[in-house]
Amino acid sequence: MRKLLTIAMTFGLAVSTVYSTTVLADAEADRKAFKDYFVKKFPETDPNDFINGVYSIDKASRAQWEEIEEFPPYEIAIDSGESEWNKSFANGKGYKDCFGKAGVADQYPQWDDGKGKVVTLALAINDCREANGEKPLKYKKGKMADLLAYMGYQTRGKKVNVKIPNAKAQEAYDKGKQFYYARRGQLNMACAHCHVDNSGMRIRADLLSPALGHTTHFPVYRSKWGGMGTLHRRFAGCNKQVRAKPFKAQSEEYRNLEYFLTFMSNGLDVNAPGARK
Ligand code: HEC
Repeated sequence: MRKLLTIAMTFGLAVSTVYSTTVLADAEADRKAFKDYFVKKFPETDPNDFINGVYSIDKASRAQWEEIEEFPPYEIAIDSGESEWNKSFANGKGYKDCFGKAGVADQYPQWDDGKGKVVTLALAINDCREANGEKPLKYKKGKMADLLAYMGYQTRGKKVNVKIPNAKAQEAYDKGKQFYYARRGQLNMACAHCHVDNSGMRIRADLLSPALGHTTHFPVYRSKWGGMGTLHRRFAGCNKQVRAKPFKAQSEEYRNLEYFLTFMSNGLDVNAPGARK
């Protein structure tokens, strides 16, 4: 605990180099500034390679990871996600009737005017189930993570393409952005402290990954979890690291956060699912 506090204090720098204080800032200008920041900070990294997280900036762990990727630990999840995708609901319909095809992860999260909220792919999956009389799946792991792994895998080769169609959507984006730069928890740290300002630095044994490309490879198989986890599982873990109470997976807070963070990766390749330490 004492060690963590020291870390928090040394990280008590001004947030942040890329955050503009105008609340209704132009999201596209944000995205460019965000990307430029990391491209400049890590000149040796090919800009599209940020999708590989910490391995995009660390040669030593990259070699190990590339070996892991030869027999990817997420393969089983893709397979079971595929059989889940092909299963019919009790009413004879299936996911295909909701989504058309599986490779649609590049389009999410989406702003939904009718619902007045950000709809993530995970939420859309459960909306589809419930509209067809099926029980919703849990959001952090299990079948949901498997389905997302399969749908993400089917989306590989496409580029993240999140849209902000109107002022209401922009509001949700702004909330997500504020969340990202807001200090929280006992350690009083923002996401941006670790993944923007201090990306490339070590925190205990971990090298902090750059935030650019943070959403493109989820869900991930994480050795520490001993299995698959969704993006919101990771958000909760990072909130806990600073001793903040995590929000619920698919809460409004995390959906808006995902909206902001995914928009920052617009134009990068979808490479889900991923493998991480
Ligand atoms: C105290 C530092 C710290 C803070 C604050 C923090 N994280 Fe993290 N985060 C980590 C560490 C350490 C890892 C694992 C190593 C890595 O990939 O950076 C990680 C990993 C991640 C990953 C996975 C990266 C990948 O390549 O798979 C995401 C996404 C993420 N964090 C998002 C967030 C968000 C969103 C917030 C704010 C709610 C946040 N983090 C706050 C330390 C932090």
